[in-house]
Amino acid sequence: MDKVYIFDTTLRDGEQVPGCKLNTNQKIRIAKSLDELGVDIIEAGFPISSPGDFEAVAAVASTVKNATVCALSRSVEKDIKTAAEAIKYAVYPRIHTGIGTSDMHIKHKFRSTREDILERAFKAVKFAKSFVEDVEFYAEDAGRTENEYLARVCEAAVKAGATVLNIPDTTGYCMPHEYAEKIKYLKEHVKGIDQVILSTHCHNDLGLATANSIAGVLDGARQIECTINGIGERAGNTALEEVVMILRQRYAKQFSTRVQTRQLNAISRLVSDSMCMPVQPNKAIVGDNAFAHSSGIHQDGVIKNRENYEIIDPLEVGVDHSSIVLTARSGRAALAYRAKEVGYNLFKDQLDVAYSEFISLADQRKEVNEQDLRAMLTQLFPVQV
Ligand code: KIV
Ligand code: ZN
Repeated sequence: MDKVYIFDTTLRDGEQVPGCKLNTNQKIRIAKSLDELGVDIIEAGFPISSPGDFEAVAAVASTVKNATVCALSRSVEKDIKTAAEAIKYAVYPRIHTGIGTSDMHIKHKFRSTREDILERAFKAVKFAKSFVEDVEFYAEDAGRTENEYLARVCEAAVKAGATVLNIPDTTGYCMPHEYAEKIKYLKEHVKGIDQVILSTHCHNDLGLATANSIAGVLDGARQIECTINGIGERAGNTALEEVVMILRQRYAKQFSTRVQTRQLNAISRLVSDSMCMPVQPNKAIVGDNAFAHSSGIHQDGVIKNRENYEIIDPLEVGVDHSSIVLTARSGRAALAYRAKEVGYNLFKDQLDVAYSEFISLADQRKEVNEQDLRAMLTQLFPVQV
């Protein structure tokens, strides 16, 4: 079975979301939880960006015991030096340095040439290597970079000593088959590629970040960069909880991660609360509705056997139980089930009476909650049955 390394960038790419900035204490708290969760690498921040971020990265580096602590830099000497300084107390330090490689970035961001970028990439990795052994190189906008040139840049990074090659789909442009082909192309054309780990880093502009990351792994990548709840620039990054559960549910015979999935729900809430960034209710794995059933047909099926409508046991991701939500679309089975939960074991004729009362109440509300249900049942059946 192949190990897939989980690189969490909640504290760096995730924290780039406007309004989601974290202070040092919040970063430390989340980093500790990520370490307990079992991620392999924690990207703690971009130390050159501000003195506050430098301090936070340094504090995370001194706190984390198991995971590698990584700091981001551009291909600029003072960035790399500052990143190295910030992570110097980490048990396992890593510098993540890189440069834009698409013609778009080369012409319109750097106003430079392909040859110059290639040289800058090589020099940056070499310089980072003078501080730490573990250096990850990113080819920003690799998703829109021509494969042949991308392979040349990657080869230069490997020659300079990179241990990991990150292939970001920075703008979320690739389709899964294109991203997979890119990874495959690099596997086949970069000299020395077998000595390094290829990493996915996919953004979600077309809603394909998770699909692209998995496609990358199926074609040879062995590290996934992701964030809790999929937070990140614009439409976000790959969601950690999604890729981890996909590997566990669908590829358990081929791939493994170290992630303790029972902690996923708790860490999702911690990140959401700390960043004041609510999780959409229908979010896969960690959304409030991920294990909630509200239509009569589904409720009846789930009550008979949870697996009729659930492919994941909620306990596996830290959710106590599936929920049967009472709405105007609910059926008798759901009403009987919820009534029993609050102490009313209804006979058939009682259920008929209760159901007609329930439907008229449900039509007036979005949801009949436990309090409403108790009030209704107490009124209908003053003596508990
Ligand atoms: O999306 C991206 O290209 C990045 C790099 C800085 C790794 O976040
Ligand atoms: Zn990114």
